[in-house]
Amino acid sequence: MEFTPKDVDAVLNELMPDDDVLVQVRRNCEYASLPAIEVSTQQARLLENLVAMSGARRVLEIGTLGGYSTICLARGVGSEGTVVTIEYEQLHANVADGNFFFADIKDRIVQLVGPALSVLPNLRRTEPFDFVFIDADKENNAEYVDWAVKLTKPGAVILVDNVIRDGRVLHADRPEKLDFVRRFSIHPNLETPTIIQTVGAKGWDGFALARRRK
Ligand code: SAH
Ligand code: DHB
Ligand code: MG
Repeated sequence: MEFTPKDVDAVLNELMPDDDVLVQVRRNCEYASLPAIEVSTQQARLLENLVAMSGARRVLEIGTLGGYSTICLARGVGSEGTVVTIEYEQLHANVADGNFFFADIKDRIVQLVGPALSVLPNLRRTEPFDFVFIDADKENNAEYVDWAVKLTKPGAVILVDNVIRDGRVLHADRPEKLDFVRRFSIHPNLETPTIIQTVGAKGWDGFALARRRK
């Protein structure tokens, strides 16, 4: 083929770019030597749209990195909303904190530092969430979805990044790679689960999406 999905993303990103704040946020992450594994520009815009469309007021993110996706979630949630974001690397959390200040959006964001499976139980005492974005260590995705169900209101949106990984979910010698997808597909508390494969700047991957059952 003449063009690749990455070429197309480059054009889309020229037409629908990061604004100056997000460009600088990415630079800050790069300067701090964080891994360049944040969502793509178009995916970040999808996050903002999904949060805004769902009318979410309380958003939970698992996996902050430098806060690029967090800022987009916080934009979607509006000035009355809150994003709680969990990160276990102190360096990542520090870079994210600086970025939230820089993006002038710190007042909508609550940062929690620690391994998500230790932090999540503490959130049972807070108000339930309307939207959860899971984007941390992929091995724990199935447990994170169970926590998302516990911590949300009926009808809440649950979105999981990186569920396809270049098609490695179908690894012939490691059938357990498909466990997350299997569990997600038949989860008793999820309504109409769907997995959308994605291509482009971040390679071949996918998002899992569902609503918490009423
Ligand atoms: N959501 C970010 C990217 C997150 S990358 C964005 O799109 O901008 C994944 C992040 O999850 C990394 O910062 C990593 O340190 C963090 N992480 C990995 N395992 C974790 C765990 N057990 N608990 C909390 N965070 C974790
Ligand atoms: C990795 C993590 C991510 O969240 C992602 O979107 C891409 C890659 C990683 O750990 O390699
Ligand atoms: Mg990811």
